[in-house]
Amino acid sequence: MKSTKSSMAHLLLSTFLLILLTACSTHSPQINEVKSDKYRLVWNDNPMSTMTIAWNQYKGKPTLHYGLTTQTKQTALPNRQTNYRGMNNNFVRLQDLEADSKYYFKVCTQQNCSEIMYFKTAPSSDASFTFIAGGDSRSIPKGRIRGNILVSKIRPLFIAHGGDYTKDGTESEWKRWFTEWQQTKSEDGRMYPLLVAHGNHENRDTEMLNKLFDVPNKDVYSKLDFNFLSLYTLNTELEPSVGYYDMVSKEKWDKYKKWDEQTQWLKKTLKEDIKPWKVLSYHRPLRPHKKSKAEGRLRYLEWSPLFYTHGVQLAIECDSHLVKYTHPLKPDLFGEEGFVIDKEKGTTFIGEGSWGAPTRNNDDDKSWTLDSGKFWQFKLITASPKSLEIRTVKFGDEEIEYNPNAVEALSQEEQNANPTAIPKNLDLWDSKAGEVLTLEKR
Ligand SMILES: [Fe+2]
Repeated sequence: MKSTKSSMAHLLLSTFLLILLTACSTHSPQINEVKSDKYRLVWNDNPMSTMTIAWNQYKGKPTLHYGLTTQTKQTALPNRQTNYRGMNNNFVRLQDLEADSKYYFKVCTQQNCSEIMYFKTAPSSDASFTFIAGGDSRSIPKGRIRGNILVSKIRPLFIAHGGDYTKDGTESEWKRWFTEWQQTKSEDGRMYPLLVAHGNHENRDTEMLNKLFDVPNKDVYSKLDFNFLSLYTLNTELEPSVGYYDMVSKEKWDKYKKWDEQTQWLKKTLKEDIKPWKVLSYHRPLRPHKKSKAEGRLRYLEWSPLFYTHGVQLAIECDSHLVKYTHPLKPDLFGEEGFVIDKEKGTTFIGEGSWGAPTRNNDDDKSWTLDSGKFWQFKLITASPKSLEIRTVKFGDEEIEYNPNAVEALSQEEQNANPTAIPKNLDLWDSKAGEVLTLEKR
């Protein structure tokens, strides 16, 4: 009897172990199947005909499959790989794409493929579009993720990120940032390209954005041409004696070289620019709305006259972790902190970056500040040939809870029918200009 009991127990134990082993063995190949992740799209070239697709590859030789249908019949091999921040970053630079088109893509090895995702190229006609501009996504993942999820609901043409992605730009921070970036992907697999600016928290390695996003100009300034709008990305960290670790040349004698080159490029490029709308994105404000932040010196003295003379309507600034709109401004040394209101020809400055960084008090308003605030947010801008409509999308703060999943996502069909459509129940800042700050074409 005793022996029967013991053999029964033995049988039960063996069966249990067999089930456990089977479960483990059926599970492990799935884990091993993850060959690539941390997908991101970048616009480093003509947004109507190019797209850079980047990802982290674990093993195997990857091929990108892409095309106008889900069959993704075209293939491309990575143009570049960087082993950086613990990731094998692969970059495919797609060219000769059709404007205003939906491209499907997936990353494959010989054994398996990623899920199918898609992106849209920019319109070449005068069709309106929306885009998101924000920055300072460092330090608090809770806030950063709220913003990321909102991207997936809004379906912007692109995101202009104004810098300070992570706190120190370390391996673990960047891995986490890219993993969380996957939450910007919409339910139907659409992903959105980044236009990246360099912030002071990227100063540990001046080539950080080149190695992670394949930004062609290692000094990270450029202009992208949309149908009726030029989007300039500038690098405030090239200004001597500004950055924590100084991105500028270590040689004293050519301390101003990179800064001067950028300013000359800006001057020449603005002068030749005939697009109706000129919009800038950069990290440090010319005049921060936070007292403890140093005032811009060269960036004010040398850039603001160029903005004004060449008709820049909108400058998007970051760095201070707060919220502001200014009136349209003209540089004037007799005005408060060097600006006076000029509603005819002035530049409107908005900002100042709080996509999950610790919020700071808006304690430095000027006579020409339209309104300011303190919460997590990014800007949602609707661009049309006649106007730029600016909205500030709020997503709570360290104390105020906010559930981005409660926002009713815009569907691709809704956006196709109306390219200016935005989700209905976004929490919009009711500023002194109301929920929408409109810049009319002059
Ligand atoms: Fe910053």
